[in-house]
Amino acid sequence: MSEDIVIHKGLENIYVKETRISYIDGVEGRVYYRGYDVEELVEKSLYEEVSYLLIYGELPTKRRLYNWIADITSNYALEDGIIEILKKLPRNASPLDILKYSLLTIGLWDEKINSLDRDDLYEKIVKILGKTPSILANWYRIRRGLPPIQPDRNLGYADNFIYLIKGRPSSQDAEIFDDVLILHAEHGLNASAFAGMVTISTLSDLYSALTSSINTLKGPLHGGAAGAALKMFREIGDPDKVEAYFESKLSRKERIMGFGHRVYKTYDPRARILKNIISRLELPPNVDKLFRIALRVEEVGMERLCRKKRICPNIDLYSGIIYLYLGLPDDFSPAIFALSRLSGWLAHILEYLEDPRLIRPRAKYMGAIGLRYVPLEERGD
Ligand code: CMC
Repeated sequence: MSEDIVIHKGLENIYVKETRISYIDGVEGRVYYRGYDVEELVEKSLYEEVSYLLIYGELPTKRRLYNWIADITSNYALEDGIIEILKKLPRNASPLDILKYSLLTIGLWDEKINSLDRDDLYEKIVKILGKTPSILANWYRIRRGLPPIQPDRNLGYADNFIYLIKGRPSSQDAEIFDDVLILHAEHGLNASAFAGMVTISTLSDLYSALTSSINTLKGPLHGGAAGAALKMFREIGDPDKVEAYFESKLSRKERIMGFGHRVYKTYDPRARILKNIISRLELPPNVDKLFRIALRVEEVGMERLCRKKRICPNIDLYSGIIYLYLGLPDDFSPAIFALSRLSGWLAHILEYLEDPRLIRPRAKYMGAIGLRYVPLEERGD
């Protein structure tokens, strides 16, 4: 056994492919989708346009965007069978699991489920982007005892989702939701994008690759962090108690949610954009209270974690608050994250399929070899 094997725990700083999808400047605190600063995209673009940009590599022309939107919206509607199944599912099923279920369902109805042919992939992509928000939003309704409603294909992506959960359109909420979707749409080869890539590297199918990504997103170190940050704000309870909370957490070597990132060694620009959006809103008292706690957490964390250790605020310090403002319960936060991130995952899967190779790393074996097999009756109790 070779002695000079280097183990890269957490694959930190390991490059496994070239990409043109996004670039995170972890020093300057900027993120670019296909070369465009995400801040400018949030300001000027729509999620539909950004999803096209990420998946197909360039901003669409007017005609291409029109066709893209038409192909997605023509897939908004849900078959009665899907609604009937949703009604039978246990009400405590997590929205993230429902999103997974929706991919499974769309896949089951897909006669060419295993095809990785480019035209077939296009059909699958517009179906996935069209149907997943309709299923997730109807799950929100069913869980609250509200009657399911069919999506409105005349509405844009964010507008339609807000319409489905509120039962009426709201252009202000849709605008905020569109910003949220864009901000979460892509973020390099993180754990969930990598998981999808590993699955597609075996030439499995698109639905399986996306499901791997969703499963990986779930944990509190990744897509579960926004919900964990909200829980933390509630636990703190008051801006005056933030300092004591830090003291007790850090003395026990525990983590502050919404801080730290493998790539950013400075303030995550997406957190700043979200904070600015929230600052302009008239928040209901329960959300305002949590926002004031979050702001104080940022202040104390900047001093104790960011300036000293380069563990700085990330997007999840504020994303849970914006979901709450939109009326989405805590457990919707990883599902909304995943819904937005479908575009980024799809982009990575398609890019990997351009030059695929089975992903198959190795682990350094540290166990024994050549042991004599002991029959069961000789092993004692
Ligand atoms: N609070 C306190 N200490 C921290 C934190 C934190 N949030 N994050 C890292 N550290 C410490 C950690 O305890 C360790 O200390 P030591 O060397 O003394 O043992 C050191 O920093 C290195 O930690 P690591 O886990 O090896 O670093 P990483 O690059 O793997 O961590 C991270 C990245 C996101 C997992 C981590 O910062 C973390 O757990 N943050 C809290 C959860 C969170 O907010 N996640 C959302 C990330 S952004 C959205 C997304 O991409 O999903």
